[in-house]
Amino acid sequence: MKSSPPVPSVRSQPVPARWRREVERVLISEKQIARRIREMSVEIERDFDGREMVVISLLNGTVMFQADLIRHLSLPLRLDFMGVSSYGLGTDSGELIFTKELRLDVRGRDVLLVDDILDTGRTLAKVLARLRPLKPRRIKTCVLLDKAARRVESIEADYVGFRIPDFFVVGYGLDFAEKYRNLPFVGVLYPHVYKLACKRVVNGNGNNKARHKTTRGK
Ligand code: IMP
Ligand code: MG
Repeated sequence: MKSSPPVPSVRSQPVPARWRREVERVLISEKQIARRIREMSVEIERDFDGREMVVISLLNGTVMFQADLIRHLSLPLRLDFMGVSSYGLGTDSGELIFTKELRLDVRGRDVLLVDDILDTGRTLAKVLARLRPLKPRRIKTCVLLDKAARRVESIEADYVGFRIPDFFVVGYGLDFAEKYRNLPFVGVLYPHVYKLACKRVVNGNGNNKARHKTTRGK
């Protein structure tokens, strides 16, 4: 039986001093992430045992999750990446483009599709539509975070790390305007950080004057 994904507790955890000016709170700590990934890997190992497993990880947001997950999978597996990026302002999803195509042949194989967060579901729906014609034996989806309140597509992931409320979160691979991916925890930024970044982008006086939009990498 699958363990149901935990909902992070509302009890706030101390924000590391280095990040206190930007990060309002830690939603999921490094320890909680590590523990949950170990649990998920047990379920995945059981389900994929004896199969020709291909892990497909969506760049860039899965960079930490994928690395930590596969090191716990003691199965023979192949690893590949697909690049997906949405172009939108600030925290809104924009148009989805593929920035890297799959290289491995997945025909007849069991695919584990890994993403950082399932939000509206548009990303996973589009990626699944691209993978199905390649005729894998089956595709299971795995996300670290699930923000069910924002769902637009009728899609659920097979493996979910944590169910979270409708906050825009950063860290552990997830970005805001390409920053904060390196935080070892999942956190929420202060509102002024989001506002400031959006204002810079709109006025064109940020670091990247040539661009009018933030590129929110996946
Ligand atoms: P969806 O297509 O709306 O399901 O969004 C999925 C993608 O949007 C994720 O892979 C993330 O890259 C991005 N995203 C959605 N919510 C968040 C968030 O709270 N923080 C950072 N990125 C997010
Ligand atoms: Mg992503």
